Amino acid sequence: MVKEILFATTNQGKVKELKEAFAQAGIEAEIKTNADLKNPPIVNEYGTTFEQNAKLKAHELAEFSGMMTIADDSGLMVDALNGAPGVHSARYAGIAHDDAHNNAKLLAELGGVPPEKRTAKFNTTIVASIPGKFDQDLVVSGQCAGQILAVPRGEDGFGYDPLFYVPEKGKTFAQMTLDEKNSLSHRGRAIEKLLAAWSEWLAQIN
Ligand code: IMP
Repeated sequence: MVKEILFATTNQGKVKELKEAFAQAGIEAEIKTNADLKNPPIVNEYGTTFEQNAKLKAHELAEFSGMMTIADDSGLMVDALNGAPGVHSARYAGIAHDDAHNNAKLLAELGGVPPEKRTAKFNTTIVASIPGKFDQDLVVSGQCAGQILAVPRGEDGFGYDPLFYVPEKGKTFAQMTLDEKNSLSHRGRAIEKLLAAWSEWLAQIN
């Protein structure tokens, strides 16, 4: 049995979601985060895919901590922009996590694009790594399909949430409760896949 798992993130919302999912799945490991580490490294996410970036984080933190480590990388891919902002989602407008400017840039880039061509999807890729066994990483991804609105809707959430409309719900991510969003979001779906693959992955590690 795994005793400790490091979630390589400083985002407390993600920590809460993963902790709850692990507890519900009956995985009893003690969950640590970057906040429990002394001077954890700041990982340079120079990868060109979500998987590369998630692996960069998982490997560097697993090596640093000596613990089994889970890391994720997410982003928005807009069809009319050939998949942009993609791995650059956090700093699309230049400064990391500047949501207002990122959203403004997205709307400007999509200026004149009609509703039916504003299709997009969010992706989350999660990697679980064991120190010294990086050739046996567990890699899973989850997606959520939607459309980019021309005008933001809703007050909740973060990032591109007010512009990301999910037709099956008739709402943007920013109009959903957190539970509702987690039940269908890219991150929620990736976590479901992680848990579905977990026991079998651990059993075949050598
Ligand atoms: P991260 O890899 O989860 O930190 O996500 C990178 C960036 O993608 C974030 O800074 C947001 O701009 C965007 N993003 C990822 N997930 C979401 C989401 O659920 N809603 C809105 N934006 C998101």
